[in-house]
Amino acid sequence: MNFLKKLFRLTAALFAVLLVVILLGIGGIYFVSQRKMDQTYAIHPVLIKIPTDKKAILRGHHLVHAILGCMACHGKNLAGKVLINNPAVGRIVPKNLTRGKGGIGDQFTTEDWVMAIRNGVSPDRKSLILMPSLNFSYLSKKDLGDVIAYLKSIPPVNHSLPSNKLGPIFRLVIAKGGSDLLSASVINQNQKPLPSGKIGTSDYGYYLVHIAGCMHCHGPNLAGGTVPGGAPPGTPPAANLTPAGIGTWNEKDFMTLMRTGKRPDGSAVSSFMPWKVFRHMKDKELQSIWLYLKTLPPAESNGKK
Ligand code: HEC
Ligand code: HEC
Repeated sequence: MNFLKKLFRLTAALFAVLLVVILLGIGGIYFVSQRKMDQTYAIHPVLIKIPTDKKAILRGHHLVHAILGCMACHGKNLAGKVLINNPAVGRIVPKNLTRGKGGIGDQFTTEDWVMAIRNGVSPDRKSLILMPSLNFSYLSKKDLGDVIAYLKSIPPVNHSLPSNKLGPIFRLVIAKGGSDLLSASVINQNQKPLPSGKIGTSDYGYYLVHIAGCMHCHGPNLAGGTVPGGAPPGTPPAANLTPAGIGTWNEKDFMTLMRTGKRPDGSAVSSFMPWKVFRHMKDKELQSIWLYLKTLPPAESNGKK
């Protein structure tokens, strides 16, 4: 009896200690992640003038819909949507970009637009979450101006959305550091806009590959492998785009894949490869990317492909 009592007390004490350790751990994760989220960045946004002519707006439309793919997260009419809603991960809400109620369109200054798109920060200079500004930090000044010109021209949509709410998993990832969840933290904030080069050249392909974010999934050397964080379970590894991977392909095979999602043998690629955006690229744009891919040094992928 005495022994059982002792055992009971000991177990209760152990549980109490364990509980305290767990609570301290959770508290620590919340504290560290919150500190990182509250960090402000010293940003000097690049100065640009926003054009208002029809040609610029059309070019902005093309960039947004065929290359940058803002709709994937901000919704078809760019009026925002709840992208992720899961108690473990959190609620992530890309904003309503229009001038309608609940939108940022009528509040943002040119500097605010520039900082969100290419520096990954809000007007208060804190990092945005999950916004792929790293890709957009390479936009040429002209293209950035055209994108903003287009965004200012889109029809207002009244759509109010809830705010972000981070769950324990995203908190843990942020507290650990080194992930691209905090958009501003992975950007070289001194990155100059890239010159776009001349369409139809491999230089232009280099530019497009950067702003379209091919490297985000296919890796910094485009040799493919496991797609980094955020990919749903079951996503296949990204393909090797260097000559060691698609070296036997010709330009037509590449164009067909980018337009239809079908490989030369007729098999379909996973819908995680955003060909439904890229299929709207002009022939000359796709040809430029193909020319650039052919200049890459052949490299082995870090994954299965
Ligand atoms: C992978 C998903 C994704 C894509 C693609 C994306 N965004 Fe976002 N964007 C987000 C998320 C998520 C937020 C909200 C971030 C936050 O509240 O911290 C956001 C926020 C913004 C904001 C608001 C910034 C602020 O201070 O509230 C702007 C402006 C914006 N995005 C513009 C764009 C434009 C323009 C494009 C295309 C060139 C684009 N986004 C593409 C996910 C995305
Ligand atoms: C959001 C992630 C993502 C982005 C961004 C992306 N890809 Fe992919 N891509 C993939 C994945 C994943 C696969 C493999 C799909 C499969 O095996 O079904 C793939 C496959 C491909 C293939 C097929 C190759 C083969 O051997 O099957 C080509 C070509 C390709 N991507 C080119 C590009 C280019 C060019 C860009 C940029 C303009 C790009 N991708 C951007 C994820 C991405």
